[in-house]
Amino acid sequence: MSHTTNPSREFKPSGQLRLGVFFQGVNSGTIWKTAGSGSQTDFESFRRIAQTAERGLFSAFFLGEGLRLREHLGRPHALDVAGRPDAQTALAALAAVTTHIGLVATQNTTYNDPADLAHRLSSLDLISGGRAAWNIVTTDNAWTGANFRRGGYLDHADRYVHAEAFVETAKRIWDAWDDGAIASSTSADRWAAPGAARRVRHAGQHYTVDVTPRLPRSAQYRPVLFQAGDSPDGRDFAARQSDVIFSAHPQLDDALQFRSDIVERTLKAGRGANDVKIMPASEFILAATAQEALEKKAWVRQLQIGPQQAIAYLEQFWGRELQEFDPDGPLPAIDPVVEETSETRGSGFHGAKARQLADQWRAEAKEKGLSIRQFVSAKTSRGHSTFTGSYTEVADRLTEYARRGAVDGFNISPWLIPSGLDDIVNHLVPALQERGVYPTEYAGTTLRENLGLATPVRPAAVDAGAAPASRAATARA
Ligand SMILES: Cc1cc2nc3c(=O)[nH]c(=O)nc-3n(C[C@H](O)[C@H](O)[C@H](O)COP(=O)(O)O)c2cc1C
Repeated sequence: MSHTTNPSREFKPSGQLRLGVFFQGVNSGTIWKTAGSGSQTDFESFRRIAQTAERGLFSAFFLGEGLRLREHLGRPHALDVAGRPDAQTALAALAAVTTHIGLVATQNTTYNDPADLAHRLSSLDLISGGRAAWNIVTTDNAWTGANFRRGGYLDHADRYVHAEAFVETAKRIWDAWDDGAIASSTSADRWAAPGAARRVRHAGQHYTVDVTPRLPRSAQYRPVLFQAGDSPDGRDFAARQSDVIFSAHPQLDDALQFRSDIVERTLKAGRGANDVKIMPASEFILAATAQEALEKKAWVRQLQIGPQQAIAYLEQFWGRELQEFDPDGPLPAIDPVVEETSETRGSGFHGAKARQLADQWRAEAKEKGLSIRQFVSAKTSRGHSTFTGSYTEVADRLTEYARRGAVDGFNISPWLIPSGLDDIVNHLVPALQERGVYPTEYAGTTLRENLGLATPVRPAAVDAGAAPASRAATARA
């Protein structure tokens, strides 16, 4: 395996936090209908967010990936932001207007091919001076696959087998150039040292690779590897392959449990207890006082989940129009028309038994006395990933996360573009710095340095056609 391991079997909290920004570009989480709402596609919005993040010494600027326009009941989504530019294109442009922040592209393993994607990621890594990262996802549904020649192929269970072979192959490609392969002076005899770039071959069920990689290594050796996917298979995959997990576990107790689970899996994979960093998705609603923050939150939620959005949210699970129901009334007494849920296509929640879910939700809403709107407000992922409070209060809470080693940082989704990071950078970051849990300068120029990750060690045997080390999954893929 080509990643460096810290052999320590005991997890030690670093006591430090890093921040990333997740420019979502889709979903109801981004408010598009208030005075300060900017475009989700103009480069100016990307530039403004990235440069603000860099002013706040953020480690990473993060973009998701969606391969189809999101739909609702079979129609393009009309209420929420739905489309977004290709991540690598946007990040390449950002590389030119930033100097330190990491550039994280979510890219799936299911519809890409390893030699091609490894090359594109290497390109971003080189032109950004070693700031690129790949957020590895498998994507989740046949609906996405229908857009591709191969259709909705690969069952969920096979996706990680395929992903594992994919990532192992990409790593072999990134390992295939020697250090110092390229002449460092004009007086050298040759531009490249003979044999410095090796041929990589892989023949499997889903793809073949026979390539001599077209690019040498970057200043950070290879792109940093993020992973997002929460199933047991996804977690094991992350423990074996990734540097950072973009998690869905921001609440303290849950985050601590997730940390122990990942440490256990990482040790089982033969890596050190501190080798995989964790940064949960999160949203921050902050103000000078706790009371102001609560008022702000009510305003934000009202814009994120207006009456129509609340009904639309339930429609995804009921599989039918529910326009006749009052958003401020109880959950619909009528039953879903679908067997299984299929939340707005492209948003990634599928497969719960619809009738069962409806019964459960009705009971829950009744018990808590919640209207449709209130229930949906609490139910969306934002319900549990939001930190609301005064700057100092929230800084104290985050300090507790750092002290206990619950997470290594947070990947923040701003609810307003392009000004949504301003108060975080102006107020929360200094409060964290005062508490000694946040950097006061960038540790280096590469993402790997700024996340405190070790440089991978190039494996001794990366010769042509050599099989990746002990990876049964590769043989099956
Ligand atoms: C926090 C988080 C963010 C994700 N972002 C994306 C994304 O931008 N694009 C995508 O196709 N899948 C995304 N995924 C979905 C994962 O790729 C994965 O395919 C899906 O969760 C199914 O894998 P699992 O069963 O291991 O969770 C994300 C998942 C998580 C947990």
